[in-house]
Amino acid sequence: MEFIAKNAANWLKTRCDSLIIPFFTGDDIHTRLHGLDDNCLAQLARLHKLGDLDSKKDTLVTLFPQQAAFNRLVIKGCGEQPATLADLRQLLASLYKTADKLPGSHIAIRCDLIRQQGASDRQALQQLAMLFTTESYRYDETLSKKADPLRLKKITLLSDNANAAGKTALQQGQAIGNGMNTARQLGNLPPNICTPSYLARFAGQLAKGNSSLQVKVLDEAQMKKLKMHALLSVTAGTDEPAKMVVIEYKGGKPGDRPHVLVGKGVTFDSGGISLKPGAKMDEMKYDMCGAASVLGTLQAVSTMALPVNVTGVIGAVENLPSGTATKPGDVVTSMSGQTIEILNTDAEGRLVLCDLLTYSERFKPQSVVDIATLTGACVVALGSHASGLYSNDDTLQRELQQAGEHMHDRAWPMPLWDDYDKQLKSNFADMANIGGPEGGSVTAACFLARFAKNYRWAHLDIAGAAWNSSPK
Ligand code: BES
Ligand code: MN
Ligand code: ZN
Repeated sequence: MEFIAKNAANWLKTRCDSLIIPFFTGDDIHTRLHGLDDNCLAQLARLHKLGDLDSKKDTLVTLFPQQAAFNRLVIKGCGEQPATLADLRQLLASLYKTADKLPGSHIAIRCDLIRQQGASDRQALQQLAMLFTTESYRYDETLSKKADPLRLKKITLLSDNANAAGKTALQQGQAIGNGMNTARQLGNLPPNICTPSYLARFAGQLAKGNSSLQVKVLDEAQMKKLKMHALLSVTAGTDEPAKMVVIEYKGGKPGDRPHVLVGKGVTFDSGGISLKPGAKMDEMKYDMCGAASVLGTLQAVSTMALPVNVTGVIGAVENLPSGTATKPGDVVTSMSGQTIEILNTDAEGRLVLCDLLTYSERFKPQSVVDIATLTGACVVALGSHASGLYSNDDTLQRELQQAGEHMHDRAWPMPLWDDYDKQLKSNFADMANIGGPEGGSVTAACFLARFAKNYRWAHLDIAGAAWNSSPK
């Protein structure tokens, strides 16, 4: 899909298959469509009178003006002007649905008619490119009948902001949308395809297409040398080899300390010996969504050529039970030297992440943010509308919360109090890997905090926000 911003003043000269006019409550069609030929305006007046043309949601009227460069004028009732960013996103998604149903491959939208009360103009253009890109995603990798190829190829946004900033907003929106689609695709792939080795190969391919990215893959022997026994305890029950992936993006100055993104990449989480119940166990293929978002982010960041250094660190493992699997009661020594009593093999994400957090110290990072589908308790606390946000740095926490707000991918601050940390006490090791039934998302975060003391760190528990199990 290609996005082009053009000045709305010349809207009648837009050469395309269909031009969409969003029509809102209180709009006067004559002033909105100033310049349209009298014949069309007369028809519109009649349609309005007859009730065919209405600002009610999803009313559609199509005209074929003679004196315009486009073939079709489509007026779409959109209800009230969007009041919030969430409203704007809903409006843009409904415009995509209309555009997708129209014949032809090139459509234009009068974006200047949308009053973006909840968002800046730049943000609205970015949201449009992002939403159109993500709305066009279809999963068909393992279906014998492939999705129809995308008919919509070109979108012209008629705007009062068709300047350089507007164009950058479109490019960035598309780059972010493509990064999101990458994350969704990796999440959707079945766990027999999307294995740790697959994730490592995927990272390699990503870097192949982009000279600003460099990838290093560590195998189990190399992780053993680094003493990552917490991470390795998770992979003990499976034949699928674990991989650690380091991707470096260098867009900043050579000496700039990187921002590190750490991703949980459990390609299937059966729970291990502490086996999960059977119902919905298939959904645990999504337990690598933290890793998928790190890969998608690096893809987007490198496409946008952002002037920063970003390093992605992914722990890719499969958690299965077997005769060689880790048992409840086992004690392991993490890379940091701290010992851990594994009381529940289903609390495996933190075991993977803690060694990655220790490993990340070598980058002398400006910040470390880990992203993980870490706890069911976070889903209980916040549902699927927000991720749990923990941090040892108030500024970093605020910045992440604001970024989530800006993209409507929200995170909500949660505490890291000592009282919770105490729940991790163990009689046989420095800590247990679970903190009992209460405050499960918080005690998991407290566990991680013990490995993130040497830098500014934040943790996003994305267990609720990562996937949506309702049918499309
Ligand atoms: N991957 C799960 C967390 C999860 C559960 C994500 C449901 C999305 C939906 C994680 O590895 C896990 O199993 N956590 C346990 C921790 C418990 C044993 C302390 C949980 O949440 O039940
Ligand atoms: Mn688990
Ligand atoms: Zn898990």
